[in-house]
Amino acid sequence: MQAALFDHVFASPEATAGFAAALAPRLRPGDVILLEGQIGGGKTHFARALVQARLAADGARVEDVPSPTFTLVQTYDTGTVEIWHADLYRLSHPDEVAELGLVDAFDDAICLVEWPDRLGDLAPAGALVLSFTLADAPDSRRIEARSDDPAWAGRLAQAAGEARHDV
Ligand SMILES: Nc1ncnc2c1ncn2[C@@H]1O[C@H](COP(=O)(O)OP(=O)(O)O)[C@@H](O)[C@H]1O
Ligand SMILES: [Mg+2]
Repeated sequence: MQAALFDHVFASPEATAGFAAALAPRLRPGDVILLEGQIGGGKTHFARALVQARLAADGARVEDVPSPTFTLVQTYDTGTVEIWHADLYRLSHPDEVAELGLVDAFDDAICLVEWPDRLGDLAPAGALVLSFTLADAPDSRRIEARSDDPAWAGRLAQAAGEARHDV
């Protein structure tokens, strides 16, 4: 059963990035974040900020973080953990998920997955689902979180508490 864990409106791209950056150091190998929501919702923006923050936190060189729209997957090695950023929009069959190596990565990398509906029943238990929607103001985005692992709630609350909302 997936429980609702979190519901916040972030008033600017910087606010969303701040939340992603605050969550980044709290992630461990085997954590999977599924990023849902319409095009332009901010999924890539969130993932990019998270990857950059975790590379920096682990003392790795901070690289460009291109969108995996065409490559399907971009991987990063922080020296401590691999981060996989996937965009499955163009995936035609769930079998390709295993071919990409994503199923194995779910076990020991930090995985950020856009368009996770393409996973079918390969979506791992315990994943954090973040659902992005446009909010009232043009630069506002609502992020709702849910998971069947209630342990995410504490980490989300800590990250949201630490991130600035007035940017
Ligand atoms: N509060 C916000 N949070 C995240 N992105 C925002 C916000 N306000 C405006 N944006 C903009 O919305 C766009 C989101 O694009 P992107 O992250 O590629 O979306 P998606 O990957 O969901 O299709 C970016 O241009 C970003 O700057
Ligand atoms: Mg995207």
